[in-house]
Amino acid sequence: MGKLVICDHPLIQHKLTFIRDVRTNTKDFRELVDEVATLMAYEITRDVELESIDVQTPVAATQGKVISGRMLGLVPILRAGLGMLDGVVKLLPAAKVGHVGLFRDPETMLPVEYYTKLPTDVTERQLIVIDPMLATGGSAIAAIDVLKKRGCNQIKMMNLVAAPEGVKAVQEAHPDVDIYVAALDDRLDDHGYIVPGLGDAGDRLYGTK
Ligand code: PRP
Ligand code: URA
Repeated sequence: MGKLVICDHPLIQHKLTFIRDVRTNTKDFRELVDEVATLMAYEITRDVELESIDVQTPVAATQGKVISGRMLGLVPILRAGLGMLDGVVKLLPAAKVGHVGLFRDPETMLPVEYYTKLPTDVTERQLIVIDPMLATGGSAIAAIDVLKKRGCNQIKMMNLVAAPEGVKAVQEAHPDVDIYVAALDDRLDDHGYIVPGLGDAGDRLYGTK
């Protein structure tokens, strides 16, 4: 079973409160989501492997450790996942980025895939799938399915807010995938929205609706 990691750093929790607040406008919402994504990138890369390299300080020759950002890949789920992408790229500028386009049909609540573009060496990379919301889990499961069909097998999920139902569904469908969230909320409502959640992440990021 993949692990569920709740990123409970006070800075993340503080910013998430304002992300949730219905009074937060589009500009502030976008900035806060970007900042939380950077902080979550710090947590999700905690176990990335380091290698030693030689380094000359002003005083002496020594060895330092570096991560190989070339081995990482970021996969935002369009469109709301894009709202977190830049925040992660700030910490991992050498990571390549793939895109998976999915939207959830409002009637059936099932994901509809409309776009996929991945780096050519995607199978060699440790991937972080990025989406602010993990609700029923349908979109996350479908995105991970797309990646696995292309031969990817090192995948983590990063979400701002998750519902227990979505976490369970992803853990059952993809038990090898660890999930990092800023908050695990109470439940889904009858329309598949996370309660208390933050509303429709895409609409709040882009000012639609
Ligand atoms: C939202 C969200 C997730 C999905 C979560 O996207 O960004 O991708 O819903 O719901 P699920 O876990 O029940 O699948 P949406 O379908 O609204 O598309 P958008 O990002 O284009 O707004
Ligand atoms: N998608 C969203 O944007 N918000 C939810 O609460 C559920 C799905």
